[in-house]
Amino acid sequence: MRRDASQKLLLFGATGDLSYRMLLPSLFGLASDGLLAPGLSIICTAHTDLSDGAFRGSVAESLRRTIPTDRMDGTSLQRFLDRLRYVRVDVSRPRDFADLAEAVGSTKGGLAIFLSMAPSLFQPTIQGLAAVGLGGDNVRIGLEKPLGYDLESSRSINDTVSGVFSEGRIFRVDHYLGKETVLNLLALRFANSLFEPLWNAGGIEHVQITVAETVGLEGRVGFYDAAGATRDMVQNHILQLLTLVAMEPPPHFDATAVRDEKVKVLRSLRRIDQTNVGALTVTGQYAAGAIDGHAVPAYADELVALSDTETFVAIKAHVDTWRWKGVPFYLRTGKRLPSRKSEISIQFRGVPHSIFGDVGAALRPNRLIISLQPNENVRLLLMTKDPGLDRDGIRLREVPLDIAIPNAFVDGRRRIAYERLLLDLIEGDQTLFVRRDEVEAQWRWIDGIRNGWKANAIRPRLYGAGTWGPSAAIALAERDGVTWHD
Ligand code: BG6
Repeated sequence: MRRDASQKLLLFGATGDLSYRMLLPSLFGLASDGLLAPGLSIICTAHTDLSDGAFRGSVAESLRRTIPTDRMDGTSLQRFLDRLRYVRVDVSRPRDFADLAEAVGSTKGGLAIFLSMAPSLFQPTIQGLAAVGLGGDNVRIGLEKPLGYDLESSRSINDTVSGVFSEGRIFRVDHYLGKETVLNLLALRFANSLFEPLWNAGGIEHVQITVAETVGLEGRVGFYDAAGATRDMVQNHILQLLTLVAMEPPPHFDATAVRDEKVKVLRSLRRIDQTNVGALTVTGQYAAGAIDGHAVPAYADELVALSDTETFVAIKAHVDTWRWKGVPFYLRTGKRLPSRKSEISIQFRGVPHSIFGDVGAALRPNRLIISLQPNENVRLLLMTKDPGLDRDGIRLREVPLDIAIPNAFVDGRRRIAYERLLLDLIEGDQTLFVRRDEVEAQWRWIDGIRNGWKANAIRPRLYGAGTWGPSAAIALAERDGVTWHD
């Protein structure tokens, strides 16, 4: 535990889906592992009127559902519940903030605040906190996405927050940065001498980043329909993954050095606008289909009104730097795809000359596959010879070398990304949080694409649920002789 760790945590949106599914289970995990200071109290707030007892009851119920039984026992549950307090806050009522301040008490030992709420509530919440003295120098604030819906709205949120908190106390969450394999990518790149000499346009032919989900709207109709796949997934998670693949080696693993390098990548993304958006992007919306043998309805049937929102997007991106000259980054994400799969695939260039050509053996260029989901793993695909005396010619085979499993499971259990991020917020380490300049560079690039669609009246093409998106997305890569790694 760091010496400047906050002594109190204040959670807004505590009765929301994210809170019950991720935040509270993460805090429970940290508390059970002794990673939270014994005196750390967790003050939870939401709009709903609940007593401490009723809130604790609903937390207990949801933890029993989400935490594996071997990690759940009556004592740790009770100890965790004892840390929780509940205060009802309607952010439009100044009086509620006064009650909240009273419940929080002194912030001298440090207070970490986490806002898991609709962005439209950020402004009144931050103003309410400032008005009752909960924005002082020893207060940090974590903000869950979405941070706006375009560059302008994100600037306005950032202005509001920075009116009360300095940048060093603002923690913008992208939960992908808390995933174990994402950090393993950094270890792989910067703790090994093997890859770096090849990690450039000379050694890498292209990069693919896929975040595929089988789920549909999951009841988030209003939010998702207003956002769409590009803003929900590319603007944040996929672009953050891209920065980690493409960034220059930072001099240190600290918040300034890492984020300085990431923002350079974001600023080097080749602009996509109305002149090239048709050639470099494909959008789709799922029609009825089947996933794992179960029929699922079309996106349009899950809504009350017709919509042009994309539930799939594929983008061919470029990072215009010396290192990445001419290397395409194919990005894609979508709902209702055939499998849940998030991965980064690095396609290396082939050998310059095959000595095995005359003996009939085909070569495949090496590939590095960094899987985030469903399994956390890093695999390097290498060519090896099939065993035998080779009387009919040499046969070569692509075999995977698993290189990260042991590291990914050091303590025997898979941690939720939010465990790391909440701990970092409490302890004040910003390395895995998104800085203002990054978030704005992300929006600038996304706005170019979205404005391009609008100017060209590009609407999403239908794809059957349970397929890999519209066929045009396959063509986007195949035009370059590239096959998506499905
Ligand atoms: C969220 C998106 O940020 O990430 C969701 O709003 C998406 O639409 C989720 O389902 C995916 O996260 P994960 O960790 O399950 O890949």
